[in-house]
Formats: sequence, structure tokens, C-alpha cells
Amino acid sequence: MRFFISTPIYYVNAKPHLGHAYTTIVADSLNRFHRALGHETFFVTGTDEHGDKIVKAAAKAGQTPREYVDEISALFSNLWPELGIEPTAFIRTTDPAHIACVQEMLSRVHAQGDIYFDEYGGHYCYGCERFYTEKELENGLCPQHQVAPEYIKESNYFFRMSRYQGWLAEHIRQNRDFIRPERYRNEVLSLLESGALEDLCISRPKSRLSWGVELPFDRDYVCYVWFDALLNYVTALGWPDGEGFKNFWPVAQHLVAKDILKPHAVFWPTMLKAAGLEPYQHLNVHGYWLVRDTKMSKSLGNVVEPLALKNTYGLGAFRYFLLREMHFGHDAGFSEEALEARFDADLANDLGNLFNRVLAMTHKYFGGEVPEPGGAAEQGEIVAELRTLALDAVRNYVTLFERVEFSKALEALWELVRGLNRFIDQSAPWAL
Ligand code: MSP
Repeated sequence: MRFFISTPIYYVNAKPHLGHAYTTIVADSLNRFHRALGHETFFVTGTDEHGDKIVKAAAKAGQTPREYVDEISALFSNLWPELGIEPTAFIRTTDPAHIACVQEMLSRVHAQGDIYFDEYGGHYCYGCERFYTEKELENGLCPQHQVAPEYIKESNYFFRMSRYQGWLAEHIRQNRDFIRPERYRNEVLSLLESGALEDLCISRPKSRLSWGVELPFDRDYVCYVWFDALLNYVTALGWPDGEGFKNFWPVAQHLVAKDILKPHAVFWPTMLKAAGLEPYQHLNVHGYWLVRDTKMSKSLGNVVEPLALKNTYGLGAFRYFLLREMHFGHDAGFSEEALEARFDADLANDLGNLFNRVLAMTHKYFGGEVPEPGGAAEQGEIVAELRTLALDAVRNYVTLFERVEFSKALEALWELVRGLNRFIDQSAPWAL
């Protein structure tokens, strides 16, 4: 069996924070989980380095885009090992191999007639690096950044995304867990069913932006950053001819937060379809970490430093908290008090206490040697129940973790932890 997981490739316009760490820790945990089951796995993460946003951030830092992206990308790649994250590949969109693949893909989609040239005027949000339609704006503002977009009119290349609207809606209907959890699947389906899907503007004139991948069929333009970035998922596997692509693409799963649902659920599968590639297997979508009810984000200035938390609470406890506290798909509030509460209740009290009692008794009554288990008859009903509890806990854990329901999976394991504590209380070995 094989397993492939990706995280978004993060923009290098700011340092990594807890939000980025969360997605990457989840991906790493899934990767470890599948490896533990004996599967051959591939886990890719990386950085998204082209586009207006990056040019602006570099200028602000007084650096060239190249200097700037090298510096910030390294903050991400250096942080991951400190958080116990071990990706198979770390991809940068400025890697020459990635650029060559993006150009190859553009040539293919262009050659088969799915890219055309047209004039266009639209509301452009620099934060999102995308055009918004009138309908998508909230009181004239970008719904993500709450800032007024700029009206831009220019000639550009367009990807005929609208051609694949019917196919995509049908694919989502036929494959229940193509996008999961279900609330996001429904969101995408209603978007596709609510009206005509627009075509996607996939170029920027070099006169306005030169920091990007040059279009192979027009040197006056660079590729739109999202078209470039999404392709990382296949270029990391050595598409078109790489073994990795053949082996892992059929089992590809992506992990993203809901902020980038549309590019992953609509742009990406239609791009794949146009290029004659199979769609990915699952898009796993999570909610936001909130701080006092607002999304944690660098632009709002309320970010939490993952390394500081790791240093205070330890890596295992920090990772446990992230997986246990957020119900995958929903938003979760972050606070250090919540982390401390989990630490005390689940780890120190339930799990720590269990270990402590078992180790202490093993030393006290058995000279530090683990005794052979007794026969079923001798152990009685209570042990038979415990055995069932253990088998159920493991089975439920595996099923739920695979379905990206991490908090429920951990709850299932804690059924066993609590059951074992109850068993010790009930059998009171110190009184036997
Ligand atoms: N570069 C694009 C992604 C391109 S993928 C082909 C991008 N980058 S980003 O730096 O803005 O990262 C967004 C992702 O970071 C989210 O989808 C999520 O994985 C993670 N998060 C950032 N803030 C977060 C929260 N407050 N809560 C949860 N996840 C967060 O978008």
C-alpha cells in the first residue's frame, strides 16, 4: 500500500506560525501513521515564492526577491525538524525543476486549446493574489482580508475552467469523500450548482509583475501564482515521467485549511482534467485556529510561536494538543490555558498516572520484570472486558485516524487509558 500527503506550500511573506505548524504536524502525523502500518509513503511540503505579495514583502524588507525568498523559505525548512516533522521532499516554486514542469504543463494545456487571450477588468486582492467577482465581495471588500480590492483592467491569458464545471460537479457527487469533511464538499457543490463557473485568469503582464514563471508561449507574461503553486503537488513527484508520480499520484491526498478551499477544490481538479491527469483522491480541509474568536494570522498580528510552546510543554505534548483539541473541519480556539488543561487532564492525570502506577507496581511486586499474563480462566470477566476494550480502542483509533478524525481517534485511545485506570482502581492490587 502507498500513501501520499501534501500540505499547502506556504507564502514566504512572513515567518511560520502556529497555523502553518498545525497543518504540517497533521501531515507528518498521518505520514508516520501510514508508515507504522507498513505503507510506502511520500510527504511533501514547501514554500510558494512567486507573485505580487512576495515582491512587496521583499521591497519592504529592503531585499531583492531572491535574497528575501531564500531567507524566509529557510525559516520554514529549518523549523520543521525542530517540531519533529520529517517531509520526504521540501519543494520551492523557485526550484528550476519545478519551473520547467510548470512551463511543460502550460504548453500542454495551451496546445490543446484550453488557454485563450482576452481583455479583462476585475477586483484584485493582493493578499489573496486573485480576482474577485462583484458577487464574491462583502460590502465591496475582500472577504478574507477585509480590504478594498484594486480594480485592474488588462489583457491576459485565461484557462477555460468553465468547460469542466459539469465534470467536476459530477465527480464530487460520485465520490462522497473526494472533499472531506462533508461541510466543505457541500460548500463546493453549492458553489458549482449556483451559477456559471468563470474562466481563470492565469497570467500577469511582466510590465506589472516579473517575479514569476515565464509563459512558454508569450515572453511578455508570467504565470499566475496559483497556477504555478498548485502544480507543486505533481512536480514534487517528478511529473511527467518520474517514478514517484506513477507510484504516488493515484493515492494523492491534500491537506489545507478552508481559506484555500476554492483553489484546491475547483482550480486544481479542473487543471488536472485539462492536462489529462487523474484527480487527486482526497482533499482534507480543516478549520482555523482562532485567538479570541478571530483567525490567527500574520496580517492580524495575533500569531502564536510554535517553538516557544514546544520549549515550554515538550514536543509530544504540543503535538498531542493540536491533534486532540481541534475537531478536524471545525475552527478551534487557541489559548495556553486550553493547552495546560489538556496537559493536566489527559497527559499528566490519565496517561501519566497510568504509567506511573503500572511502573511502580511492576517494581514493587515483580522486581521490575514484566510478569507473564495469566490464563483467561484465572483472570476472570474483568480482564476479558479489558481485552475487548483494548482491541476496540486500537481498531477505532486506526479507522478514525485514517479518516482524518484525529480528535475522535485520540478519544478512542483514551477509552483504553481510562479503562486501565479504572481496572487498577477496581482490582486494587495494593490490597490483594
Ligand atoms: N501559498 C498559498 C498556498 C498554495 S498551495 C498550492 C497559501 N499560503 S499561506 O502561507 O497563506 O498558507 C495558508 C495555509 O496555512 C492554510 O491553508 C493552513 O494550512 C495554514 N494556516 C494559516 N493560518 C492558519 C490558521 N489560523 N488556522 C489553521 N491553519 C492556518 O495560502
